[in-house]
Amino acid sequence: MASLRAISPDVVEHPSAARHDDHARGGLAHQRLLSHVLPLGPGHAEQHRAVPREVVSIACTDWRGRDRRADTLDLLFVNAAIDRGDLPIDEVPTDMFTEVMITNALSPLRTLETLRGLVAPGGTVAVMSSDQGSISRNIEPGYELYKASKAALNQLMRSYATRHADDGQTKLLIDPGHNQTRLGGPDAPLIPEESIPDVVDVLEAQAGAPGLQFLDRHGENVPW
Ligand SMILES: NC(=O)c1ccc[n+]([C@@H]2O[C@H](COP(=O)([O-])OP(=O)(O)OC[C@H]3O[C@@H](n4cnc5c(N)ncnc54)[C@H](OP(=O)(O)O)[C@@H]3O)[C@@H](O)[C@H]2O)c1
Repeated sequence: MASLRAISPDVVEHPSAARHDDHARGGLAHQRLLSHVLPLGPGHAEQHRAVPREVVSIACTDWRGRDRRADTLDLLFVNAAIDRGDLPIDEVPTDMFTEVMITNALSPLRTLETLRGLVAPGGTVAVMSSDQGSISRNIEPGYELYKASKAALNQLMRSYATRHADDGQTKLLIDPGHNQTRLGGPDAPLIPEESIPDVVDVLEAQAGAPGLQFLDRHGENVPW
């Protein structure tokens, strides 16, 4: 069984999946956990749908960068997301709206549905969300499309959790805090080297917990 820190599903054994190596890049996927699974953008949506519903194993790199193959995961963690700048919603082109919604909301759920069968009984399925997806905390202006996409992700994850309520898998949405990444920008107060170990601690602490929770990196509930 792949250990919690050993899961880095980069490639699904399917021609539509492209290798997606995050080791050399910045970003939250870089720390302790690596989480790329599939290309998630609109151009990949139909390919993604074509991935077999039953995936029996995935090629991975472990936390030391060694190639592995895993047929059982303790944790499936979907991390990728995009923003496309800070336009008021009435100025967002339709293509941009579609791209962000597919990448941030639809594709993470398709990924969970495709790969959940690899997750061990009692294992965890998680998606990187954001407190920007909290509707009740949306009292500051800005990033309307990104916020909407994370709120949609959260809503879809709640539906997923209802649909799979009895599967025995822990379900988490994680807010990692505002980090200095390409997405978070250089002025963010946190760096991934500090925040992601906290996220991993939360994932480990919640292993086996029932239901769906929306938690920050300290393990506190984020309001919906
Ligand atoms: N940074 C923050 O302050 C912050 C706060 C709250 C939540 N988050 C969340 O944390 C997660 C990681 O964000 P980050 O800050 O690390 O951003 P990032 O540095 O921009 O990294 C985003 C990652 O997503 C990948 N990605 C983008 N589009 C993709 C696609 N179509 N298919 C597959 N992979 C794709 C990128 O791959 P490429 O490098 O190949 O483009 C990159 O590795 C996201 O879910 C984000 O919403 C971040």
